[in-house]
Amino acid sequence: MDFEKTILCIGAGYVGGPTMAMIAAKCPHYKLVVVDVDKEKIRAWNSDNLPIYEPGLDELVRETRNKNLFFSPEIEKGIRESEIIFVSVNTPTKTFGQGAGKAADLQYWEKTAREILASSTTSKIVVEKSTLPVRTASAMERILNENSKNIHFEVVSNPEFLAEGTAIRDLEFPDRVLVGSRETPEGIKARKEIVEIYANWVPREKIVESSVWSSELSKLVANAFLAQRISSINSISALCEKTEADIDEVAYAIGMDSRIGPKFLKASVGFGGSCFKKDILNLVYICESYGLEKVARYWESVVEINEWQESRFIQNMLRNMFNTVAGKRIALFGFAFKANTGDTRESPAIYIAHGLLEEHAKVVITDPKALENAKKNLSTFEDRVSFEQDPYRAAEGAHAIAVLTEWDLYKGLDYERILKTMVQPAFIFDGRNILDHQKLFNMGYNVIAIGKAPLKHF
Ligand code: NAD
Ligand code: UGA
Repeated sequence: MDFEKTILCIGAGYVGGPTMAMIAAKCPHYKLVVVDVDKEKIRAWNSDNLPIYEPGLDELVRETRNKNLFFSPEIEKGIRESEIIFVSVNTPTKTFGQGAGKAADLQYWEKTAREILASSTTSKIVVEKSTLPVRTASAMERILNENSKNIHFEVVSNPEFLAEGTAIRDLEFPDRVLVGSRETPEGIKARKEIVEIYANWVPREKIVESSVWSSELSKLVANAFLAQRISSINSISALCEKTEADIDEVAYAIGMDSRIGPKFLKASVGFGGSCFKKDILNLVYICESYGLEKVARYWESVVEINEWQESRFIQNMLRNMFNTVAGKRIALFGFAFKANTGDTRESPAIYIAHGLLEEHAKVVITDPKALENAKKNLSTFEDRVSFEQDPYRAAEGAHAIAVLTEWDLYKGLDYERILKTMVQPAFIFDGRNILDHQKLFNMGYNVIAIGKAPLKHF
């Protein structure tokens, strides 16, 4: 079959794989090729055991793979044969040199740009799908366009707003799609080409066009605003614990104000995930580099509150369990950074597990999808951590359960049965406020939740 366009995506991760699968499903007239340096990952994308868990993804890949969606390790060939290249490689926080701990590490991104240049024989549109510091496009243009091949690259920004666990729904019905470019005739032409792809299924009024700088910055700011709401409600959860106000009641009451809105007001043990912290710190670094100290400190406090919330959770566990957890078995219900994903990057559970292990607790971890990643995260503590697929077995002989991921599964467990197998007095620390606390208290548990008065039998 002849395809209208050949689109390449470099980076077959959480963003590249699902995004290209959605474009393939909605645009049978395009050929989509996804490449990655990680050959093992490409093999997994071509198998029945995809490298990431995401509801609806298996079906989407099954529907399109080897029809108009291809996963391949051949990066050079992919570059040569495509007209449009999406780049969705990782952009983690820099761990060395200037800006270490804050700035984005752009080595993978720059390497990809140089590979594109080396393998291209025709002009192309290069799409920034990764989250990048504002003004990256200008550096990219310089690398790509100072060539003697007589070819031209137009850099377009098209940040991704999907959330893990709901990626397929977010891609199919996005709140908006943002496409930014230079305001030159060539820039606007390239922008329109990218808009055309999404217009195959996204209503036009939801496709926003802007300058390339606004597009790059909007992605960082969207994540900063979302994380800020969580830190705001989490900061108030601490005040609720002192005053007997209930954080869920407060969130409900303020969320009914249409100017505030109800979403992203769920108090928790803290936000995790690969992006919120890294993107805010990147924003902080950018502000600092422009001398905007006050702005930098303002956004940095969002990350500080999050870290404080995580450490408060451990302190609450210790204080309530008679100031020691040494030698006590503690079951962590959930290790993924949120429900419906197996991803554990920056999961608060990693921090909580480390804290408890430092206090010499025996930690047992259960999670329906994230145990493999949890094992990698805690590999240095092999002797004192165990992993258990079945939550009932995880809780056997435990002094406490800490709910760290809001999996629906944990709401429906038989807690009467669990209580009988635990050491008394038994504790539940609900880091996600998903359980029926009064019911558990009536059964005999001591229940300590986020932003609520503790329910204790002593
Ligand atoms: P990921 O780590 O899951 O995937 C990135 C992939 O890029 C890896 O498989 C890696 O092997 C590959 N890669 C790196 N350098 C390469 C190179 N030179 N050539 C070919 N492949 C290369 O990362 P991700 O979660 O998909 O995130 C990618 C970008 O998208 C990041 O900038 C992130 O901030 C952004 N983002 C992520 C999400 C999310 O939910 N995970 C959502 C929106 C935006
Ligand atoms: C987030 C954004 O929601 C996406 O729009 C963005 O594209 C993505 O980051 C990214 O750039 O990587 P994601 O991290 O996958 O998506 O998941 P979220 O649903 O945003 O949850 C992030 C964290 O906040 C989770 O740990 C979650 O449990 C926590 N959270 C979320 C709360 O504690 N309370 C809430 O009310 C909402």
